[in-house]
Amino acid sequence: MTWKSKDLLTLEELSAAEITHILDTASSFKEVSTRSVKKVPALRGRTVVLFFHEPSTRTRISFELAAKRLSADILNVQTASSSLVKGETLIDTLKTLESMTIDALVVRHKSSGVPQMLANITKATVINAGDGSHEHPTQGLLDLLTIREHKGKIEGLTVTIVGDITHSRVARSDIRALNKLGAKVRVCAPPTLIPMGIEKMGVEVFHDLDKALSGTDVVYVLRLQLERQKNNLFPTIREYSMMYGVNNERLKRAKKDAIVMHPGPMNRGVEISSGVADGPASVIDEQVTNGVAVRMAVLYLLQGESNEKPS
Ligand code: CP
Repeated sequence: MTWKSKDLLTLEELSAAEITHILDTASSFKEVSTRSVKKVPALRGRTVVLFFHEPSTRTRISFELAAKRLSADILNVQTASSSLVKGETLIDTLKTLESMTIDALVVRHKSSGVPQMLANITKATVINAGDGSHEHPTQGLLDLLTIREHKGKIEGLTVTIVGDITHSRVARSDIRALNKLGAKVRVCAPPTLIPMGIEKMGVEVFHDLDKALSGTDVVYVLRLQLERQKNNLFPTIREYSMMYGVNNERLKRAKKDAIVMHPGPMNRGVEISSGVADGPASVIDEQVTNGVAVRMAVLYLLQGESNEKPS
C-alpha cells in the first residue's frame, strides 16, 4: 500500500486497511528499538518540529525518540519560551517555521481542530498529537497494536472504556479505530461524563461498572480529566472512585484473560488501583513501548516511505 495522505489528523479518515498497514509497519519497526544502535536512515535530512501547547510526557518524548530513530533532525517549540507569549499568532508561528523549510509538524493543542487548521495552510506534514477532546490518533493506533499483540486480532473482541468519556480524545480515537476493525465497544461512566448521542459512534452505553465489565476482553481505563471539567460532574472523587474505579475485585467481572489498559498519566487510587495498574493483567508499560514504534511508522509512512526503505 502506498501512503497518499499528507497529514494524520483523525482516525475517522482512515480505512481498516490503512489502520492495519500502520500497525504492520509499526510491528516491523519494533525491532529497531532492540538494536544496540537504535537507528535507521529512513528520515535522514528531514526536519520534524514538535509543537506542544499542552503538557505531555509519553507523546512528546516518544515522537522525539521515533524521529531520532529514523535519523530526522528534531526541533522542540515550547509555548512558554516562544514568541507566542508575546502575542504572535499560531499561524504566524507556523509561517515562520515553514520559512525555515520544515518537513513535519507534530501538534498538541488544548483546542479541538488546531492541527486541521494548521494542516490547511502548510505544505508540511501535520500530525495530531492530541487536540482538545477531539482525537489523539497515534494513541488510538498504539492501543490497537497492543490489543492485537495480546489477542491476535481486533475483530470480535469486546472492549470496555471506563471513565471520563466526555473529555477524552483518546476515547474518540479508540472508538473510531476499534469499530473500523470490528470490535464491540462499551463505554461506562456516570451520565455526566458521557456525551449525549455517543451511541451514534457505535458504542453501547453503561452506567453500572460491574455490568460493563462482564465478559469483556479489554478493560480500558481513562484518566479523570479534572483540568477540563468546568462544573462538578460527580459528588466527590471518593464516590467516583467507589463506583467507577477499577480494582482487582471489579476486574473479576471481566474475562479471565482480559487485559487492562490506560493511556497515562494515571490517577492511582482514583480511576485505577495500584493493584490493577501493576498487576498481571496490566499492559500499560507495553502501550508506552508501542508508542515509539507506532510513531516511527506514522512518520515513515507520511514522510519517508518514498525516499528510502528502513535497513
Ligand atoms: N497518553 C498521553 O497522551 O500521555 P501524555 O499526555 O503524557 O503525552
